[in-house]
Amino acid sequence: MKAIIFDLDGVIIHTDKYHYQAWKKLADRLGVYFDEEINNRLRGVSRMESLDIVLENSDYSSANSEMKNEMAEEKNNTYRELLEKMTPEDLEAEVLDTLTALKQQGILMSIGSSSKNARLILNKIGLGDFFDAISDGNNITNSKPDPEVFLKAADYLNVNACDCVVVEDADAGISAAHRAEMKAIAMGDAVKYGNGDWNIGAFREILDII
Ligand code: BG6
Ligand code: MG
Repeated sequence: MKAIIFDLDGVIIHTDKYHYQAWKKLADRLGVYFDEEINNRLRGVSRMESLDIVLENSDYSSANSEMKNEMAEEKNNTYRELLEKMTPEDLEAEVLDTLTALKQQGILMSIGSSSKNARLILNKIGLGDFFDAISDGNNITNSKPDPEVFLKAADYLNVNACDCVVVEDADAGISAAHRAEMKAIAMGDAVKYGNGDWNIGAFREILDII
């Protein structure tokens, strides 16, 4: 094992709660039912695919692409307003300490996120220059469970896929890791599906596995 690829939202930082709030605001305005359970299905899924899930049982499910683009933009604007308030203090000490310990061990580290806001978030929480590579929603055409985002991360790190371990809170992300022939550590929501090679309850447990 030479490298770790971390998902961002819900793994490094709890922006998943802001995704929920932003989708909920859009859904409420449209009169579309939305709850935490539906939100869990959006983990790891791209913005436009997430919108399709949010609208799937509503009158807007067959809205044209112009309308859908406007809705996605509305959600993203709300989301970015919430991100604006973030500072390095939002990064949990346990996460920073674990990342620092891994770096001291010489392990290569990359982000592997479906988000197009990944760099903004990393800058906000003081990790803008921390990772050896960033693979995100801007460099992929297929989002998780497709392995593309992790394969690109391995490529950017110049390591073989089989030398990488992925850390994920999305079941779609665990599938993506396995399709990339990488091992996967499940945390948060991903634990309940039982598909990870390891399950962790606390971020620092990564150090016990590595
Ligand atoms: C993933 C989140 O990291 O990024 C998804 O888990 C989200 O819920 C996806 O839809 C895309 O994010 P963004 O920031 O590009 O809208
Ligand atoms: Mg996630």
